[in-house]
Amino acid sequence: LVGGTLKSWGGPVTEVYSSISTTPSYQPTLLGSIPDMGEEAAHEALEAALNAYDKGKGVWPTMKVRDRIACMEKFLKQMITQREPVVRLLMWEIGKSLPDSEKEFDRTVEYIRDTLEEYKQLDRDCARFKKAEGVYAHIRRGPLGVVLCLGPYNYPLNETFALLIPAIIMGNTTIFKPAKHGVLLITPLLEAFRNSFPKGVVNILFGRGRAVAGPIMKTGKVDVLALIGNSLSANALQEQHPKSNRLRLVLGLEAKNPAIIMPDADLDLTLQECLAGTLSFNGQRCTALKIVYVHEDVREKFLSAFSEAVDALKFGNPWDEGVKLTPLPEPGKPDYIQELIDDALARGAKIMNAKGGQRTENFIWPAVLYPVTRDMRVYQEEQFGPVIPVVSFREIDEPLDDMASSNYGQQVSLFGKDVYTLAPLIDTLANLVCRVNLNSSCQRGPDVYPFTGRKDSAQSTLSVHDALRSFSIRTFVAFKDN
Ligand code: G3H
Repeated sequence: LVGGTLKSWGGPVTEVYSSISTTPSYQPTLLGSIPDMGEEAAHEALEAALNAYDKGKGVWPTMKVRDRIACMEKFLKQMITQREPVVRLLMWEIGKSLPDSEKEFDRTVEYIRDTLEEYKQLDRDCARFKKAEGVYAHIRRGPLGVVLCLGPYNYPLNETFALLIPAIIMGNTTIFKPAKHGVLLITPLLEAFRNSFPKGVVNILFGRGRAVAGPIMKTGKVDVLALIGNSLSANALQEQHPKSNRLRLVLGLEAKNPAIIMPDADLDLTLQECLAGTLSFNGQRCTALKIVYVHEDVREKFLSAFSEAVDALKFGNPWDEGVKLTPLPEPGKPDYIQELIDDALARGAKIMNAKGGQRTENFIWPAVLYPVTRDMRVYQEEQFGPVIPVVSFREIDEPLDDMASSNYGQQVSLFGKDVYTLAPLIDTLANLVCRVNLNSSCQRGPDVYPFTGRKDSAQSTLSVHDALRSFSIRTFVAFKDN
């Protein structure tokens, strides 16, 4: 979709496979193909976005708030009609379970509705005149220009839209490249984009990020880089921008969120929260619990119950009843997880659960690894998949020191009861990460709460409230009382 036109494509294509197999002897399923676009298409999309912005005098950046809202409402109405194909593609393309796929779609619809409400409120707030020292000010929020937006494969609809929707509604024009896995599910929405927004406001590019996003960045004409994914891609793109200091960054990147289990924690609740926290969508969430610190006094009890619970989870296809573990969409992921396990075993860890590390072509059973030490790859790397490193501690300073020296700082889960111990600890933890979850696993939602991180985990803040601010700038008209 470039400049409001659904382009027919005569160039090379890339086949899209699902890691889900329908044959008894494993064979990935061919789902379809997408255009393999390159530099030429990328420049065309950029031109379309620049023309639509038209140095701030385009139809979209100057459009009245109520008219922009009407466009978005039109889009939403049409999007809702595509629920069934999008949900089906979420299951096939990324292996997300049926309930979670439905939740992703519905959460996105809700996100758009809430964003529109927040946008109306923002406009009402801005409409008030302020006065200080005889000067009146009419403060507004204006667009930033052209936004390049790249979404992740684990939430190809929801997180992509958490970037794209606020960027659009604030009056920016956008170029969007879908994730590699979860790319086809954008196609049922192309018509809705085309019918709802003026020419050039939303431009969608298919192809490899390096081939299409790189050339756009090199022009220096992008004002905002919005990306949820890994810092390697974000840094590479940022560096290509000739004036990267002018670039607004809205980034959601890696995290290694720890669970800290205190000796007085309610172990049943902790176990359930840790299970969901480590293994929802096979651990492929930036908010997943990626390391578990358990106090020595409860280590044995926790480890044996947790290992048993991991092995009792159901593996199957996304549409199977009660399924919790599903095929991994990235073909290389089981091998990568295997490498982490082998490295840990070679350095003295053990697999605590009977099924841990069992392999099929598209899956590896989550291994609970203990004792994990700082020299192991599984301690250092963001595994983004089904393997759970467990570290025991005696003094709380041990996990705190680890968190302080980590490159990441998104969230933490703290399990315990004694308020006199927890209260000062919460204050310290809040200075190391951006969200402290008390007796619950880490997560992004509810979407009205700020979603961000310290250090390499994020730049800017997302949420219904914050994203509108991340994709805009305060401007004002000042006049004197005379
Ligand atoms: O991949 C990171 C996502 O933002 C996680 O979102 O906590 O809603 O699963 P979630």
